Amino acid sequence: MDTISTENMYAIPFFKKIPVAIERGEGVYVWDESGRKYVDLTAGWGVTSIGHANPVLADAISKQSRTLLQTPSSGLVYSPVRAALLKKMAEILPGKLSNVFFANSGAEANDAVIKLARKISGRLDVISMTQSFHGRTISTASATGQSKHREKYNPLMPNYRFVPFNDLDAMAREIDDKVAAVLLEPIQGEGGVIIPKEGYLEGVSALCRENGVYLIVDEVQTGFCRTGPMFAVNRHKMEVDFMTMAKGIGGGFPFAAFAVTEAVSKKVEIGDHGGTYCGNPLGCAAALSVIQYLMDHDIENHVETVGKYVIDRMKTLQKRYPELISDVRGRGLLVAVEFRDKLMAEKVYSECLKTGLFINMTQGYIFRIFPALNITLDEIGEGLGIFEAAIAFVAGQ
Ligand SMILES: Cc1ncc(COP(=O)(O)O)c(C=O)c1O
Repeated sequence: MDTISTENMYAIPFFKKIPVAIERGEGVYVWDESGRKYVDLTAGWGVTSIGHANPVLADAISKQSRTLLQTPSSGLVYSPVRAALLKKMAEILPGKLSNVFFANSGAEANDAVIKLARKISGRLDVISMTQSFHGRTISTASATGQSKHREKYNPLMPNYRFVPFNDLDAMAREIDDKVAAVLLEPIQGEGGVIIPKEGYLEGVSALCRENGVYLIVDEVQTGFCRTGPMFAVNRHKMEVDFMTMAKGIGGGFPFAAFAVTEAVSKKVEIGDHGGTYCGNPLGCAAALSVIQYLMDHDIENHVETVGKYVIDRMKTLQKRYPELISDVRGRGLLVAVEFRDKLMAEKVYSECLKTGLFINMTQGYIFRIFPALNITLDEIGEGLGIFEAAIAFVAGQ
């Protein structure tokens, strides 16, 4: 039986699958089993931050796997590679964030910080945003402000409240002394690349301070130079108590983290959290090599340059097809090209796949361009060229 039939037969069918079996990758390119080449502008959903099969990451994983995969007694013992990663994280973390715990996925990191914020504040409520996405565990689905991720699992966890993103007045009305934490993405990714208005994040931060509420920033998608700076919050003056990270941190190795301030760290007690693989040496070696690569190659500035090129080129495209494209927006290499019509977007998406491009579509009509961060101008030009040709083809039908 071939790969596609085998997966279809034995996997639990949660995904609406794309009928392509990808065998290998290199940089921003991937090849299917028949040897067909594609440009990948999805980076595996914002994950392969330094490209597919980057030798720096492959060597780090390979070397660590021949040294030690998992410490005896897991996180109870110290590990030189974990210590090195913690030190590196302390160099790059914004504001007063200083202490870190490692996890395995974005949802798991968000789950942990919600739990901890509740415990140490003695309060129960969490405010998050409509259109947000924080994961698929029961508590992160409860914190996710999109009905499609929630409605089938009711009743969800209690004490979650929602306010619209970018509406400071709504936040001011909702926040009170029952609220343990506000949880938000600095740019809503899965919700459609929604950019915060000028002063919004700073305003939320101030409201949290005034009400003694912890601010949790979910940088799972935006962290590690995705939007230019190492973290999206670096562009804003705000006080963050908890920050969650995943995706780009491991460059494709499943890894995540959450950071807290020293003040928060002092309030946690032994046993409040843990996990078998948390801070596993293999994951730490992977993350360390990714962060070092981002720093060595000045990826922050590279992303700003390439991101500006993408936005300019897509705005030109919008001018050419105003009847199809309603908006182009983004920061760094997290860019949205919003279509007016789901059917047309679907046709463009299929044509891209046929002509050798993996591009992500969120909400059924918003193309989200979030490739590897070290993509060159030529490579992004090639990918956008396929996208433009697909639009021209569909528009001409
Ligand atoms: C902002 C944000 N938070 C959390 C998650 C969940 O991360 P994971 O899929 O690693 O559990 C995602 C995934 O897309 C995300 O974009």
